[in-house]
Amino acid sequence: MQTKLTAILQEAKEQLQSASTIAETEEIRVRFLGKKGKLTEILRSMGSLDPEERKVVGQAANQTRSEIEAMLAGKYAAVKEAEKQQKFKAERIDVTEPGKQRPLGTRHLITITIDEITRIFMSMGYSIAEGPEIETVYFNFDALNAATNHPSRDMTDTFYIDDEILLRTQTSPVQARTLLKQKPPIKIISPGRCFRCDTPDATHSPMFHQVEGLLVDEGVTMADLKGTLDSFAKQLFGSDVKTNFRPHFFPFTEPSAEMDVSCFKCGGKGCRVCKGSGWIEILGCGMVHPNVLDVGGVDTEKYTGFAFGMGVERIAMLKYGVEDIRLFFENDMRFIGQFK
Ligand code: DAH
Repeated sequence: MQTKLTAILQEAKEQLQSASTIAETEEIRVRFLGKKGKLTEILRSMGSLDPEERKVVGQAANQTRSEIEAMLAGKYAAVKEAEKQQKFKAERIDVTEPGKQRPLGTRHLITITIDEITRIFMSMGYSIAEGPEIETVYFNFDALNAATNHPSRDMTDTFYIDDEILLRTQTSPVQARTLLKQKPPIKIISPGRCFRCDTPDATHSPMFHQVEGLLVDEGVTMADLKGTLDSFAKQLFGSDVKTNFRPHFFPFTEPSAEMDVSCFKCGGKGCRVCKGSGWIEILGCGMVHPNVLDVGGVDTEKYTGFAFGMGVERIAMLKYGVEDIRLFFENDMRFIGQFK
């Protein structure tokens, strides 16, 4: 019996030596100590022995059992540790590897320019009004005193949706909408998108941006208009620039003018930016026509006002030296990322 036990112990030892996983170790445990295990069988067969013998064999078998259990415990610990090390190795990350680059976006130059313009007017107490890009013919033309035969109404100049609805060609309809909504004193600017049937080239885009301005109050004169816009030009282009107002025509203002600034690149001597003239046209403006004030039910005996409108792309191109308007809408990060 003793030799049998020694053999079992030896066998268990050998098998455990080659086991390298928890599952294998568990199989060995079942093979020797399980219900039908080799050692269990010996313990079970002891019933047929006489008491003296049983005592001796029992002790020896228990001794063997403890030894196998101790070996199993050692193996379990070793295999567990090995498996843990294996896992660590597999999951190891190289912290010195460069991370993924997530490119950061920047504000678009059009947004930057609109922000600059609005900041200047907000510092003068103007607030921001908004109007729809899909506009009625009424607000885009009629309410703004545009004659029925005005060329800008033509199908070839304007995107019509039907006879009464179009994509606004200017931000000026916000003037009429604001006059209907607010009572004087009124002091608003309105930045936004406009649309015209233009074939894209270096200076034309069928979609572009304008900033509209409207001020209505008692006793407002052309002097207020000139003072306001001169101050605006100096804040936007530099305190050295001079302004010049040339008579012009717009249906919704009378008198109307275009404002030029002295060239901020060459100081007025004449260069490529100002095309040699020393002056750059910046915006349209004028005293609000009484017919427009009438649309909003404003008492034209009591109130007068001025209005102005400027193209954002044009100003951005001049100020930042952008040579082609199409660059604004190509979404090339190499272009957009230059202006921070
Ligand atoms: N809406 C005009 C345009 O698109 C610009 C303009 C000129 C707006 C004179 C005004 C203004 O408010 O008074 O050409």
